[in-house]
Amino acid sequence: MGKPRVVLGVSGGIAAYKACELLRRLTESGHDVRVVPTASALHFVGAATWSALSGHPVSTEVWDDVHEVPHVRIGQQADLVVVAPATADMLAKAAHGLADDLLTNTLLTARCPVVFAPAMHTEMWEHPATRENVATLRRRGALVIEPAVGRLTGVDTGKGRLPDPAEIFEACRRVLARGVTAPDLVGRHVVVSAGGTREPLDPVRFLGNRSSGKQGYALARTAAARGARVTLIAANTGLPDPAGVDIVPVGTAVHLREAVLKAAADADAVVMAAAVADFRPADYAAGKIKKKDGEEPEPVVLVRNPDILAEISADRARVGQVVVGFAAETDDVLANGRKKLRRKGCDLLVVNEVGERRTFGSEENEAVVLGADGSETPVPHGPKEALAEIVWDLVASRLE
Ligand SMILES: Cc1cc2nc3c(=O)[nH]c(=O)nc-3n(C[C@H](O)[C@H](O)[C@H](O)COP(=O)(O)O)c2cc1C
Repeated sequence: MGKPRVVLGVSGGIAAYKACELLRRLTESGHDVRVVPTASALHFVGAATWSALSGHPVSTEVWDDVHEVPHVRIGQQADLVVVAPATADMLAKAAHGLADDLLTNTLLTARCPVVFAPAMHTEMWEHPATRENVATLRRRGALVIEPAVGRLTGVDTGKGRLPDPAEIFEACRRVLARGVTAPDLVGRHVVVSAGGTREPLDPVRFLGNRSSGKQGYALARTAAARGARVTLIAANTGLPDPAGVDIVPVGTAVHLREAVLKAAADADAVVMAAAVADFRPADYAAGKIKKKDGEEPEPVVLVRNPDILAEISADRARVGQVVVGFAAETDDVLANGRKKLRRKGCDLLVVNEVGERRTFGSEENEAVVLGADGSETPVPHGPKEALAEIVWDLVASRLE
């Protein structure tokens, strides 16, 4: 099998230079990339750069190499088209089916998955015309990644920044791996919790756990790649923000509960991958707890934290909302998992074995997904993203 063929469309935004890094990542990971810039894009990064980095000729118009009919061939032969950055103008043209240059012709002839990574000033992104164009593209099955928040052209900051090229690359890789034209979570809002809560004892100490947040981030990234609007409730993770995901940072179990309940109000699915502390210190010392000569330390009294998974399972914010829990067990993994599934009342429970060197912080996982309907889906040892895809397959089948 040849290399997957990717068309990298670049439109005329200031972030065009960041597409060079995306191109590098795509070529270095074994993709055959054809860059199709717009004429405006060439004001920002020249054709020589795109041609040298991709190893292919570059043109913006349909009138070059006409004997090869590039205005149809490039799109027809592509396994993925990604437009990064996608200008407001490009989103409008794509939504309305205009075809006045090589990139817009390619978008009309492509039958493969299409990813847009928009970048523009906040006003342009929020304009009703752009909102409608984005909604149209998403309805037709394109993956439109949400722009990041941060520094824009000039002195402005706000929503509209091109997400990190590494994150766009990850989104492309996931879409290519699935090979679907219509992502199956389009129009769905999913909430994912990730990381581990920290319950403070005093201003410098806390009770925490070893969860890195990688499984939750893999769930968020894969859901976004399947077209969902994703709210990621991130507890003390320190991981790079996945592209196209709304992030809500939280600290304690109580914060996490508030954030999950708020986001779940209009969610189709809630996946609780965060490791939430069962207990928290009953008292919080406003100053650092000091050791006193000749005295034993005071015992730490704990109180129960709210059981968020049980609460959202029992009190669904929407009819048909799918709730997924995670059970990290150290022994008697399956039997404990089954008991937990019944106790919590969720639809699916991902049961995995954890220990000091297992699962937490690693890139891989192995689990069994138990269903309230009695189903049991074993997931062999593999990347956390593979487990995430299976979770979304099971969620998607329940949403239907
Ligand atoms: C310095 C500069 C920066 C620009 N940055 C953006 C941008 O980030 N996003 C955007 O939508 N348009 C931006 N524009 C406007 C586009 O270049 C303009 O709408 C152009 O017609 C887009 O053409 P294209 O979609 O064919 O590439 C910028 C223009 C200039 C002069």
